[in-house]
Amino acid sequence: MRDYTPVPLPRIEGASLSDSHVPLIERYLDHLPFEKGDKLVSLQEGSTPLLQAPVVSEMVGATVRLKLEGGNPTGSFKDRGMTCALSAAIREGAKAVICASTGNTAASAAAYAARAGITCAVIVPEGKIAQGKMAQTLVHGARVISLRGNFDQALALVRELTATNPIVLVNSVNEYRIEGQKTAAFEIHEALDGGLDALCIPVGNAGNITSYWRGFREVGASPRMLGFQAAGAAPLVEGHKIEHPETIASAIRIGNPVRWEDAMAAATDSRGSIRVVTDEEILAAYRLLAYREGMFCEPASAASVAGLLKYGAEGAEQVVCVLTGRGLKDPETAIAHNDGMIIQCEAERGPIEEAVLGDP
Ligand code: F0G
Repeated sequence: MRDYTPVPLPRIEGASLSDSHVPLIERYLDHLPFEKGDKLVSLQEGSTPLLQAPVVSEMVGATVRLKLEGGNPTGSFKDRGMTCALSAAIREGAKAVICASTGNTAASAAAYAARAGITCAVIVPEGKIAQGKMAQTLVHGARVISLRGNFDQALALVRELTATNPIVLVNSVNEYRIEGQKTAAFEIHEALDGGLDALCIPVGNAGNITSYWRGFREVGASPRMLGFQAAGAAPLVEGHKIEHPETIASAIRIGNPVRWEDAMAAATDSRGSIRVVTDEEILAAYRLLAYREGMFCEPASAASVAGLLKYGAEGAEQVVCVLTGRGLKDPETAIAHNDGMIIQCEAERGPIEEAVLGDP
């Protein structure tokens, strides 16, 4: 345990601020397993922008918007689930939380545990965590266990550990995570007045597609759920576990998704699908989003747009692509794959003029 007193947690008292300035749980209290008066662990997550994407819209012949989940406090959609998971953990008197992670869950759990003043441990695949996320997780004071193994092994181990120890598991096996993440569907439904035809979303452990579908069902909507997996890590498409998943999109380098059946049900029940995009297609979408739309997301997030570009809008008029996480997570990939340029230059006027104005 930490040896300091945590900051007082906000309590739910009739929402007085505008919807977008209240903690997520408070905004959607009627739809979440919390009561007025519950202590909340919140970093004011949710209420993220829904941005028009004119270039992608033109390319696919539909109105395409991007749900910018990188706008959450730790830079990914995980914060929606984590505010619920940590608030519930605190309500139950938990002193520690743990997760397996490809990066974003770790950073989110670490931040919310810091806010709550409880201990956080994360198990990550050795050498496979993007630098931005490792920095974030460490700075929040989490204990990082670097596993000689992949995400699937890490998750199996934390499930074993939490079965016999008083530590709360905050991966998306935790129902509170799914409950919190479904609120993104509410926001899209409200913003588009129920007019959404199709949702494009990257699929890894398959918690998020499960959450969105649950959220849409709760408000009586049924857009087609179009999930996309990376070619080297596509168990749901291939119909079997992948022993050694590989893709540049580290967030979705997962071979045995824990929400397998739920994800397949979401695709089937919504008349949608789960399909595959290659690393090349992911990187092309990643660069297009940054270079043409001005939106820098992480590679896994670009899988949603890659899938839309590859398979087309298929008759949908209003489409939302979920950009699940912020690009700064992974500076290495951005520096290796971009449309910018670095020009070495002497500190003199002539060379600078040439560097700025000359032909590239
Ligand atoms: N996009 C990003 C940015 C993610 O971090 C993840 C999952 C996904 C998509 C896939 O979502 O697992 O619910 O299907 N990241 C997890 C993590 C595994 O540890 O941060 P999913």
